[in-house]
Amino acid sequence: MISLRQRLKQSSNQTNSKLPAGPNDSQFLQTLWIILKPMNYLERIEKRYGDIFYSPPFAGIPAQIIISNPQAIQTLFTADPKLFNSGEGNKIIQPLVGSNSLILLDGERHLQQRKLLMPPFHGERMRTYGQVISETTENVITKLKLGQKFIARPLMQEISLTVILRTIFGLEEGERYQKIKKLLSGMLDIFNFPLSAVFLFFKFLQRDLGPFSPWGRFLRQRQQLDELLYQEIRERRNQPDSQGEDILSLLLLARDENGQPMTDEELRDELMTMLFAGHETTATALAWALYWIHYLPEVREKLLSELNSIDINNAEPMEIAKLPYLNAVCSETLRIYPIAFFTLARILQEPMEFMGYQLPKGMILSGCIYLTHHRPDIYPQPKRFKPERFLERQFSPYEYLPFGGGNRRCLGAAFAMFEMKLVLATILSHYSLELLEKRPLLPVRRGLTFTPAGGVRLRVKEVI
Ligand code: HEM
Repeated sequence: MISLRQRLKQSSNQTNSKLPAGPNDSQFLQTLWIILKPMNYLERIEKRYGDIFYSPPFAGIPAQIIISNPQAIQTLFTADPKLFNSGEGNKIIQPLVGSNSLILLDGERHLQQRKLLMPPFHGERMRTYGQVISETTENVITKLKLGQKFIARPLMQEISLTVILRTIFGLEEGERYQKIKKLLSGMLDIFNFPLSAVFLFFKFLQRDLGPFSPWGRFLRQRQQLDELLYQEIRERRNQPDSQGEDILSLLLLARDENGQPMTDEELRDELMTMLFAGHETTATALAWALYWIHYLPEVREKLLSELNSIDINNAEPMEIAKLPYLNAVCSETLRIYPIAFFTLARILQEPMEFMGYQLPKGMILSGCIYLTHHRPDIYPQPKRFKPERFLERQFSPYEYLPFGGGNRRCLGAAFAMFEMKLVLATILSHYSLELLEKRPLLPVRRGLTFTPAGGVRLRVKEVI
C-alpha cells in the first residue's frame, strides 16, 4: 500500500506545487520536545516555518498540516463538510464511547446525529440546568472548612461529574447513581495515565486475560456500567410520565427525519460521549479560572465587585451568566491555555487547493488553538492574562476557538461556559480563597487535555 508520505511526494511532483514547510527533527527529539515542552515546541516551529506548517509523523501521530492562520482556519471551518472526515481519526476512544458516538461519525450520519443532539444544549434549555449547577456546587464546597487546604482540579471534577450525571442522565442520589459514578470515574481515569492507556493504542494488547489483566478489567467494568445504563434507558422508555427535563429525557423524545427514535445503543453511546468529552474539560477549565482569579488580585477584586452589584444569592442563573466581566474572565481563561491545544483532525477526502498549497486526498489538517490564541497581532501581549481584551473587542470564530468550529464545533460549548460562570460565582460568593502556588503554573498533558501542573493548590481563608 502506498504511504501518505509517498502520496504527498507524488502529488507534489504531479502538480509542481509545494506543501508547507515544516521541521525535520529526528523523531525522538520531536517526541521529547512535544511531551516535555509542548508550548515552546509549537512556538519555535511557528516562528521558523510560519502559521501553516507541515508536521512529519512521530510517535504514532500521522503527518499533518498544522494551522494557526485565521484565514486558513476560516477556510477549514467553512469548507463543505463532505471534504473532510474527522470521526475516522478518533477510533482510539471507540472502546469507551461505542461505535455510534458522534465523535466517531462522519458524513450524513454525523449531521443527522448532531441535529438530534443539539436542541438540549441550546439557549433557553440552559435555564433548567442553572439550578442544578449552583446547588451541586454548594453541596460540594460546603464540605470545605476554614483554613482547609485543597487541590482545585479534583474538587472541580467532583462538581462537573455530579452536574453531568444530574443534567444529562437525570440521575439523583441512590444506589444506581453511586455505582455509575464509581464505574465511570474508574474508566475515564484509564485515559489519564499513560501506562494504563497503552492498551487503547495497541490493538494486540486488547485481549481478555481475566479480571486482573488491564483489558479484562476494563471490559468487566464496561459491562457492569452498560447494564446499569441500559436499565436506566429501558425504565425511562417504559415510564414516559416520569420524564424530567434532563438531556436523556429529551433524547428519548427526539425523532429523526423519518420519525424514528434513537435506539438504546445510540443513546448509550451518546451519553458516554458527552460524559467523556464534557466533564474533565470543564473541571480543568474551572481549575485554571480559580488559578488566574487568585493569582491576580486585581482580577478577583473586579470580579467580586461585579458579583456584588447584583443580589447574587437570589439572582437568576441567566442574570449571572450575562455578567460581562465574569464572561471575560472565563473567555480569557480558555484563551491563554486552551483545554484542547488542537481541534479534532480533519482528513481530506479529495485533493484540494488550500491557501496556495495543493493537498492530496488523505492529508490531515488540524487547527492549533494554542498558537492561534497566542498571535500578537490579534492578542497583544499574548502571555498576559487580560480579561479586558474581551470587553474591548469581539474576536471572530477563526481568531478565538477554544471549542473548535465548523461542523465539529463542541456540542457542549454553551453548557460549559454556563457551568463555569455559575460554579465560579457560587464559590466566590461563599469563600475567600488563597492561592498556595508560589510560582507561575504551566499546562501539563493529562490524557487528551492540558491541565495546570499540580492541579492548583488553594486554602480557605474566610467563609463568607
Ligand atoms: C471547557 C469545556 C470544553 C472544551 C474546552 C471543549 C472543547 C472541545 C473541542 C476543541 C472540540 C473539537 C471541536 C473541533 O474539532 O472543531 C470539542 C468537541 C466536542 N465536545 Fe467539547 N469541550 C468542552 C466541554 C464539552 C461538554 C460539556 C460537552 C458535552 C456535554 C462536550 C461535548 C463535545 C462533543 C460531543 C464534541 C464532538 C462534536 C462533533 O464531533 O461533532 N464538550 N470540544
